[in-house]
Amino acid sequence: MSIESRSAVGEELDGELASLLEVERFEAPAKFREHALLSDPGVYDHAAADPVGWWEAQAQELEWFQKWTTVLDDSDPPFYKWFTGGTLNVSYNCLDRHVIAGRGDRVAFHWRGEEGEERDLTYAELLSEVERFASALKELGVSAGDVVGIYLPMIPEVVVAMLACARIGAPHNVVFGGFSAEAVRERMEFSEAKVLITVDGAARKGKTAAVKDRVDEVMGDLASLERIVVVKSKGTACQMQEGRDVYYEDILAAADPVCPAEPLDAEHPLYILYTSGSTAKPKGILHTTGGYLTGVAATHRYVFDLKPDSDVYWCAADVGWVTGHSYIVYGPLCNGATSVMWEGAPDYPSKDIWWEIVERYGVTILYCAPTAIRACIKWGAQWPNKHDLSSLRLLGSVGEPINPKAWLWYHKVIGAERCPIVDTWWQTETGAIMISPLPGITATKPGSATQPFPGVFAEVRDESTGEPIEEGQGLLVLTHPWPSMLRTLYKEEERFIETYFKRFGTETYLVGDAARRDRDGYIWVIGRIDDVVNVSGHRLSTAEVESAIVAHTDVAEAAVIGQHDEDSGQAIVAFVTLQGELQGDDSTVEGIRETVAERIGKFARPKRIIWTEDLPKTRSGKIMRRLLRDIADGRALGDVTTLRDPAVMQQLEAQVKELSAREE
Ligand code: WTA
Repeated sequence: MSIESRSAVGEELDGELASLLEVERFEAPAKFREHALLSDPGVYDHAAADPVGWWEAQAQELEWFQKWTTVLDDSDPPFYKWFTGGTLNVSYNCLDRHVIAGRGDRVAFHWRGEEGEERDLTYAELLSEVERFASALKELGVSAGDVVGIYLPMIPEVVVAMLACARIGAPHNVVFGGFSAEAVRERMEFSEAKVLITVDGAARKGKTAAVKDRVDEVMGDLASLERIVVVKSKGTACQMQEGRDVYYEDILAAADPVCPAEPLDAEHPLYILYTSGSTAKPKGILHTTGGYLTGVAATHRYVFDLKPDSDVYWCAADVGWVTGHSYIVYGPLCNGATSVMWEGAPDYPSKDIWWEIVERYGVTILYCAPTAIRACIKWGAQWPNKHDLSSLRLLGSVGEPINPKAWLWYHKVIGAERCPIVDTWWQTETGAIMISPLPGITATKPGSATQPFPGVFAEVRDESTGEPIEEGQGLLVLTHPWPSMLRTLYKEEERFIETYFKRFGTETYLVGDAARRDRDGYIWVIGRIDDVVNVSGHRLSTAEVESAIVAHTDVAEAAVIGQHDEDSGQAIVAFVTLQGELQGDDSTVEGIRETVAERIGKFARPKRIIWTEDLPKTRSGKIMRRLLRDIADGRALGDVTTLRDPAVMQQLEAQVKELSAREE
């Protein structure tokens, strides 16, 4: 998508409000600044003068079995290496070290189930379960370097599974619980996973969805997959295949309770996480050990101003996304935080469940996505107002641009104008937060992620000349390596270079977002420039959804776009051509939505389906998505002269008008 059409979408968000707020700044209260971990703006200059030294100082905060010999090896860009020669273990840093230091009784997670179940897990308890499960994995034949798939809901065992993998050096490949079993299979196949850890059933707003049985339907013939471990979470009956499937509880009980953390090379792979790119095939983002942990621990400490002795921190994301990896699991545990982990949705059993949780556990730091805030605005302030939210002292936002209206509501209704808001911009690829306020230093502007974190270098580049832009809009790039950066795309090195390092060379990381720099140098991230859509903070590729849609037997061709949406940020709209003389009706729409749910997951189902006899294509046969976006957003059509058949557009416009009238 061109930057121009994106900015039109951005401007629609809050129109005048945005420009009004561009000049207004919000300072943290004096009391907050006084006690903040970082309150001297000099930290930016200090880090900029010696970024490698700054990151080295952050790495010193971790426990190393052996210190590095070189902080940054940049001899072969874009294949950077950090802390070479050093050895450490992520699970040791997240667990053992706190227990050894006498913090074993501290709660790591207050887990809360959908039906009000509660489970507090201390650091000592978590360590003990992780050691056992790590032993059990070894007994199943998993060794360092073997990929382990994890497909679990928001239950404590997902954290145990991740840390147990980290303990023995088996890279995990977590798949978000909202993905379908078929999507899991694909990710297991691409990564050649040896073991998959899943669950009997998962809670979904008062119902239980069978998980293991769905997995069985698609996983049977996957050659690389040797074992399936099943957590008995909901007591759902499921088939267990002799010789392949084992229950988590059984192998845990039989396992050696002692499993020392393996010293691993700083560049040992920690995990693969599949995310969406421009093509239908998801990208396997690879993160390694030392640099990743350095990045997530430092950003978690300073962006959230974490005081582990007194804070109760809650990241309301799902562990299946990178936000969960970095800011539910690795960052908070490495920093010895006490966190809340919530199993369910924000509106079950009722629309005040989040606020009930904040009150009950005395949450001081809340980190969530704008889409959740917009849902809360829609439900009304009466829900949060029923609860005492005075424990909150800092609020965070992640996953998509936060529109000023949502920012202000968050600030007023949830934060009672007392809590600084950190709007954190980053990606699966960056591993850790890259652009964000530091709450004790930065004056914020609603809708702007403000400035790069110390030691991070961002620029906005002109789309055509590639020159840095002082004030104005262009392509966002990161110009220096950072410790938590992705190391490659798993098994796709060429694609790694092509996607991120072709446009501006091997030393400049192309983000894939458009951004604007204002006159004060504040960065405003606008949205993706590639064919990636962001639905409720869930990253999806249009190509992925298209290929799911064409799997429906009636469909001949499909084009998918992201359309601006009040609730979800963007919504998926599909333009579909059916086979031969077929006519689409409500049942075809349902059939297509069902096919997408099966292939990817329910969250990827198109919100609107528009029938068309043909798609707007150039003479060379390329679909012109720009025109589809213009049509869907009701904008005046741009240049249509390059179309093979301009009449297609008139027909489409009429279709969209008719559909809109029906929806109203
Ligand atoms: C978008 C999620 C504006 C952006 C951590 C990015 C944001 C993509 C913000 C990455 C933000 C994330 N403001 N846009 N604060 N945070 N994005 O990989 O388009 O799921 O490229 O990582 O989300 O999505 P991902």
